[in-house]
Amino acid sequence: MSHNVKVVGVVGAGQMGGGIAQVAAQAGLDVVLFDAQGEQLKKGAALHDKLLARGVEKGKWTQADADAAKGRIRYVEKVGELSGADIVIEAIVENVEIKKRVWAELGKMFTGDQILASNTSSISITELATAVGDAADRFIGMHFFNPVPVMKLVEVIRGLATSEATTARVLALSSAMGKVAVPANDRAGFVSNRILMPMINEAFYTWMEGVAEPADIDEIMKLGMAHPMGPLRLADFIGLDTCAHIMEVMADGLNDDRYRPCPLLKQLVTAGRLGDKTGRGVFDYSQK
Ligand code: CAA
Repeated sequence: MSHNVKVVGVVGAGQMGGGIAQVAAQAGLDVVLFDAQGEQLKKGAALHDKLLARGVEKGKWTQADADAAKGRIRYVEKVGELSGADIVIEAIVENVEIKKRVWAELGKMFTGDQILASNTSSISITELATAVGDAADRFIGMHFFNPVPVMKLVEVIRGLATSEATTARVLALSSAMGKVAVPANDRAGFVSNRILMPMINEAFYTWMEGVAEPADIDEIMKLGMAHPMGPLRLADFIGLDTCAHIMEVMADGLNDDRYRPCPLLKQLVTAGRLGDKTGRGVFDYSQK
């Protein structure tokens, strides 16, 4: 099935939304990137300039390609400017109430055959779809991975009401964006975080129990399992608050206490040591 998408609307110009916008534009699609905060849009545009220029330096693409991709992205501060989009991909804060509020508004704007997609990493697609009423069959999860331009996967999450046609269009669109799309059903954590987060959580228990020092835990997992980063470095990269939050979502959603976050993970979050974004998590990045 053809995806039938010419214009991609992205809501949220943070790391994920910005990455999705860049990848779509580089795939030749027109992009409207919306963020209500002008500052965030400016940061997103600056990151696009930097990453596109770096790709030219490395010979990954030409200056003309970079300019064309940048020219295909419109940065907008008014939600109404998304109206011509054929798909809206939402990548805002992982908070169910805020997401539902935003989706209730978007649902009223997109009453045709547009696809409504959330980049949530853990919130139930079936629950978010309740915010768009009759459009639940056009609602789907498109879970991208950080850094979006590098990571090949899009985990495509089918909610209870998601139609076959919506899934087929999103699979086609993801591959047109140069990604490998893999479908999964809507259970807490989907597939990726259901398996990744318990591993990360276990790394915190291993550290807490003094089995090994953090750097050694990471070295063992990097070299022994051929992972690009050890689990504790990856936790810092993702954000310790996000890891703890996803564990809680799984503990509640799967109704099983084995998914509760490790006390040491929670303690670091309480201390404000959230990882790369605060300069310190498991490891210290303040000198970088
Ligand atoms: N944006 C765009 N490109 C980036 C980038 C960024 N933020 N960071 C790195 N890159 C690119 C570099 O330009 C480089 O490209 P080339 O090879 O074409 O030159 C390539 O990635 C490798 O970068 P580096 O050499 O600087 O560094 P590295 O080899 O250490 O790789 C990494 C960095 C790609 C982040 C790698 O360590 C990695 O793959 N780590 C694991 C990442 C991961 O697991 N992500 C998923 C997190 S879970 C998630 O996102 C979902 C969730 O629900 C929580």
